[in-house]
This record gives sequence, structure tokens and C-alpha cells, in this order.
Amino acid sequence: MSLPGEAVRRTPHAGRAQEDPGRPGRGQEEPGRLDRAQVDPGRLDRAQVDLRDAFRAAMARVCTPVCVATTLDRGRPHGTTVSAFTSLSMSPPMVLMALDRGSDLLALIRRTGRLGLNILAGGQSDLALCFARKGADKFADAEWSAESGAARLAGAAAWVGCAVSDLIDGGDHVIVLGTVLRAEAADAAPLTYHARTFGTHCPNADCLNAACACSRGV
Ligand SMILES: Cc1cc2nc3c(=O)[nH]c(=O)nc-3n(C[C@H](O)[C@H](O)[C@H](O)COP(=O)(O)O)c2cc1C
Repeated sequence: MSLPGEAVRRTPHAGRAQEDPGRPGRGQEEPGRLDRAQVDPGRLDRAQVDLRDAFRAAMARVCTPVCVATTLDRGRPHGTTVSAFTSLSMSPPMVLMALDRGSDLLALIRRTGRLGLNILAGGQSDLALCFARKGADKFADAEWSAESGAARLAGAAAWVGCAVSDLIDGGDHVIVLGTVLRAEAADAAPLTYHARTFGTHCPNADCLNAACACSRGV
């Protein structure tokens, strides 16, 4: 049993491949876990709806990167568009990303223990939209190759291949921790997502000035 706010850890190979780890079975509501109203939009009261909408609007102000996270399931690629990812650690190199509990990719990752992050380039918003659909055919028109047990897309700004090292419940999402096996960057501007619109990064005019700290790599 977990305490309020305490993360519940599951290993990727815990033998519960298709099971939703954070959701108790019928009649097994665990004390200390999230109240159902917090994860079931159908059971929210007015104040909770207002908070959810305000939170959504606030998060739309965050400019995020966009990647297609992938794995290979018995040689077949599966991928999902993800903006909730970031680097986590340098020693060892690790990344984290958050996947909705209902994600098909999440169910596959529990089984395969492998994860690839294709950090999309500025011109790849069509791929971002394609991989944001549900279904098993998302790679039908994609150019890809197998690497690190995952699918690497051609033309991405960067590639990071990982072994999944932990899965941690976080509300209606699951945080996936990946230990980096391989990383490669291309000379391409990244795709970004802000205010529900795709774009790319433009340096501020004053940052192009040699005196700016960011141009010195600080
Ligand atoms: C720009 C963008 C960012 C997204 N970021 C995430 C994310 O961080 N985590 C997530 O679970 N879904 C995210 N999604 C939604 C998934 O891509 C979408 O639900 C997808 O259909 C899930 O596919 P799957 O069930 O095959 O994993 C995002 C969608 C878009 C368009």
C-alpha cells in the first residue's frame, strides 16, 4: 500500500505485462491512492473542472520538444508521439518520459524493456500527427530501421536508444525511466509544441550577441 504522494514502483518485467498497475481491481480501492474523481473526468465537480481547465491552459504556455517514442515487439515497430520527456541524469545517462496509462506503447514497453526516442526535426510535424493516432499501422509510410531494440526514424534531429529501468505511477500517467544505450544528434532544428501549435526554436535577437551567456554554452 502506498501513502498519499508516494510513488508506486513497478519493474518493467514484473510479470504483469498487460495489467494497469496503478488502477486497483473492482472493490479493491486502496486507501492513500488517488481518489477516482481525480482520474475520472466524469466524476469531477465544478471546482475540479475549473482547476483542470486552468492547469491545461497553463501547460499550453509551456513550449515542449516533440519525439516519437518507439519499441520493437517481436520485430514489429510501434511508436507514439510524446512531448513529456526530458533528460534525467548524466551519470549514468538517463531519460524520463510520461505515458498515459491507456497507451498501447506503454503496454508493449512493459514487455520489451526497450525504448527509442526519435527527437523530431522542425519539418517533421506530419510524423508527430501520424504517431499521435491509435493503431498498429503507424509505420506504414515511415522510413525506419531497428536499433537498440526500438525503431529509429529517418531524418530526426536526434536519436536516443534506451533500456527501460523503471516504471513509476504518476496520476493517470506512468513515468518511464530509460538508461541510455546509444545517443546521436543530427544537424537539424528541433520540432516544438506550444499553445497547441507545432513550430521550432528561434534564438532571441539579444542572444545572438556574443556577450550572451547562452551563446557561450553556459
Ligand atoms: C504534440 C503531442 C504530444 C503528446 N505527448 C504525449 C505524452 O507526452 N504522453 C502521452 O501519453 N501521450 C502524448 N500524446 C498523445 C499520444 O500521442 C496519443 O494518445 C497516441 O494515440 C497514443 O498512442 P498509443 O496508444 O499507440 O501509445 C501527445 C500527442 C501530441 C499530438
